[in-house]
Amino acid sequence: MEMNKHGIVIAALMLLLLVVFSPFALAEEKKKFSADKGRPFIPSAERKGYTPELEQGYKLTIANDKCAKCHTAARALNTIMYNVEDWKRYIKRMMNKPKANLSKDEAKLIYRFLKYDQLNRKEKAPQDFYAPEGMDMPDVSEISWYKEDKLPKNWDKVSNKAKE
Ligand code: HEC
Repeated sequence: MEMNKHGIVIAALMLLLLVVFSPFALAEEKKKFSADKGRPFIPSAERKGYTPELEQGYKLTIANDKCAKCHTAARALNTIMYNVEDWKRYIKRMMNKPKANLSKDEAKLIYRFLKYDQLNRKEKAPQDFYAPEGMDMPDVSEISWYKEDKLPKNWDKVSNKAKE
């Protein structure tokens, strides 16, 4: 009887620890990149000029079983690639990750959306976005949108890394 009680108390404590700490573990996994801090959506007013195809690409980018399956939707919406074409490479990398559920057609729609979004929104105000943290920074002369007074919010972080 005494043993049983102990067993229950220990089991309850372990359950409590699991419940208390698992959200931290998840949060850590999801908070890895600065871009996660950005807005996880684009309001419909800002999507007014979208073609149905762009809208489809946008929806896939924020979908919980697509680009927001392993990390926040904010990550894609707030990262400004050094070169807009880098999105192609990045999307391929995401498709190849275990548990990714992205078809070629979906990847194409996402690419067209992210390319349009970078050229028409992010490159107009790079200071509102974040440069990729998992990619080597090229020479600034190779970054089409580079302006010294309009640098991404995490510029210190990525440029210090480039100097190392
Ligand atoms: C299977 C899980 C998974 C899916 C699905 C996924 N990602 Fe990722 N993503 C990751 C992981 C893990 C990282 C961090 C490591 C890396 O960059 O490869 C990451 C990093 C990123 C980054 C940060 C790049 C940087 O260097 O700062 C962007 C942007 C991104 N993903 C966009 C996307 C887009 C767009 C999609 C949908 C096409 C997508 N992700 C789908 C797992 C995923």
